[in-house]
Amino acid sequence: MKDMLIAPSILSADFARLGEEVDAVLAAGADVVHFDVMDNHYVPNLTIGPMVCKALRNYGVTAPIDVHLMVSPVDQMIQDFAKAGATYISFHPEASLHVDRSLQLIRDAGCHAGLVLNPGTSLECLEYVLDKVDLILVMSVNPGFGGQKFIPTALKKLQQVRRLIDDSGRDIRLEVDGGVTVDNIAEIAAAGADMFVAGSAIFNSDSYQQTISKMRQQLQT
Ligand code: DX5
Ligand code: ZN
Repeated sequence: MKDMLIAPSILSADFARLGEEVDAVLAAGADVVHFDVMDNHYVPNLTIGPMVCKALRNYGVTAPIDVHLMVSPVDQMIQDFAKAGATYISFHPEASLHVDRSLQLIRDAGCHAGLVLNPGTSLECLEYVLDKVDLILVMSVNPGFGGQKFIPTALKKLQQVRRLIDDSGRDIRLEVDGGVTVDNIAEIAAAGADMFVAGSAIFNSDSYQQTISKMRQQLQT
């Protein structure tokens, strides 16, 4: 099992003070910055784009930036985010007409490539592209909004994807996104996840440091 990575979703941060918020969660012990991109087309919400990613890099953020594309189409955004300093770029297979090509585009741009499974999406889309994937993101809410409740069937899917990854012998991260809290993170880890997105649980808490430490304690037991 790889190191467990905690990735606060800046969707729940105060956008008026984004640089400070990112500094604060990283100082509090976060490993990765999760960056949710929504286009009011693939999902019914609108957030931030490559300019903001670039601005965070210019501001001095050196931590990995995990770009979660909830946009359609994806290819132009892949290129723009790679230029803007993304580390990981993930997209939803149904948002690209040519999944294999989009994954290859991410790697060709020097980033780690991820595929995202919605709560209703099966594992089949992974079968022929596993060699082009560095990360599989299992959604435990329907994408579009922070602060939703964890959908329990995601646990079964995490177990299935964990088995798929282990059987393949490949070096692939298993990320979970949506409704992750101090109270359920241990169970989610037991199902096989090794990278945990948490938005509202961290940014709506009184102390980012205490919340992230509590999450890490849960991951150690
Ligand atoms: C939902 C986003 C998530 C979201 C998670 O579409 O992909 O990253 O911000 O937020 P919480 O942790 O509040 O469910
Ligand atoms: Zn996300």
